[in-house]
Amino acid sequence: MALGKTILRGRVLTFLDEPNGPDDHSSYRYIEDGAVLVEGGTIVSVGEWSPALMLAAPGAEVIDHRPHLIMPGFIDTHIHYPQMQVVGSYAKDLLEWLNTYTFIEEQRFADAGHAARIASAFFDELVRYGTTTAAAYCTVHPASAEAFFAEAERRDMRMIAGKVMMDRNAPEGLLDTPQTGYDETLALLRKWDGKGRLHYAITPRFALTSSPEQLEMSQDLARQFPDAYIQTHVNESVGEIAFARELYPNLPDYVGIYEHYGLLGPKTLLGHCIHMQDREIEMLYETGSVAVFCPTSNLFIGSGLFDRARMQKGNVRIGVATDIGGGTSYSMLRTLDEGYKVLQLKGQRLSPIESFFMMTLGNARALSLEHTIGVLAPQADADIVVLDARATPSMALKMEQVETLSEELFLLQTCGDDRAVVETYVAGRPAKARPGT
Ligand code: GUN
Ligand code: ZN
Repeated sequence: MALGKTILRGRVLTFLDEPNGPDDHSSYRYIEDGAVLVEGGTIVSVGEWSPALMLAAPGAEVIDHRPHLIMPGFIDTHIHYPQMQVVGSYAKDLLEWLNTYTFIEEQRFADAGHAARIASAFFDELVRYGTTTAAAYCTVHPASAEAFFAEAERRDMRMIAGKVMMDRNAPEGLLDTPQTGYDETLALLRKWDGKGRLHYAITPRFALTSSPEQLEMSQDLARQFPDAYIQTHVNESVGEIAFARELYPNLPDYVGIYEHYGLLGPKTLLGHCIHMQDREIEMLYETGSVAVFCPTSNLFIGSGLFDRARMQKGNVRIGVATDIGGGTSYSMLRTLDEGYKVLQLKGQRLSPIESFFMMTLGNARALSLEHTIGVLAPQADADIVVLDARATPSMALKMEQVETLSEELFLLQTCGDDRAVVETYVAGRPAKARPGT
């Protein structure tokens, strides 16, 4: 269906660069009475509202979102779609959580019907919370990835995902082999990568569940498809790290395992990166790999506190993510609120404009997609979120005291959730009010 022209009117906010401190007003563009002209899933122009716009875009539908904020859709750089029904599982630590709940639940995704049902619920939920792009893990079953990509394609969402590869230390029903993991990944990658708005991520789950042979075959895939993403986990919990070191005793550290198998690089997303050696930070920097901060998960599972200042000092690229189902909310607002608290405990500052940069342009950069998403600019995808800082009675009361944009953003982050998301546009179409369309 060809889409007509739409003008979104409201208070427009988009980042231009990473903020250099809490008052770096040059890092963003804010238009009090702004207009975003959208056509065919793409942004055509962004500027001041003017009735003359109607002459330039005759027949355009105007959607007046004043006094709400119009921003680029949120981006989540690490999430497990098969873990929707794992959220809120009670465990001592990561390994108990994985073995007791997660590795049981994920076995259900051998069933294509179950995978399709959860994939549909997953995208409904992302959109309800204002998230328009995610880097997602499927399960070991090719059917889980098929269901995910088919549903993302149907909704025309920009998504990154991959079938998990895991060939040891998990229940039989959740294991592939180096060869089947390779073959299945290759077939999925050929079928889905670059189709519409979809991207493939080569996904060895983590060193604990991949044999050296499997990591070697992952390297082979990465060499054949240098533009594909690679996603995995590293240095999340103390017990996990001890096990990784036992499994790969001849390598210098946990990051060194992925380094040895050629899995680091600018398209590599490494979940967690909490307990890091200096050498490991240096390797992330040298390879341009991305450290993904997952605050709600790290607090809920009790894994540890991410050291953002140390990563920044090492010039490591950083993303931020929900990590559902270790994480506890689909909301990037809730995620950055918890991220703020983690950093408070570390004695580090995270200003509201840095937070909103991270959920939009910052995460787009982490995914090397900054020319396509994470910004409101001509030619970018029309993935847009509309936010209401008066979404609840208590937020409305607090807004009476708010004087600056920065204070409003901080209130949205501290108290906001799905209720603060008035609308989410996916490729120019309003998608929150009409789930599944
Ligand atoms: N490490 C390996 N798999 C997982 C997972 O599913 N969730 C989290 N939080 N950590 C992991
Ligand atoms: Zn994860």
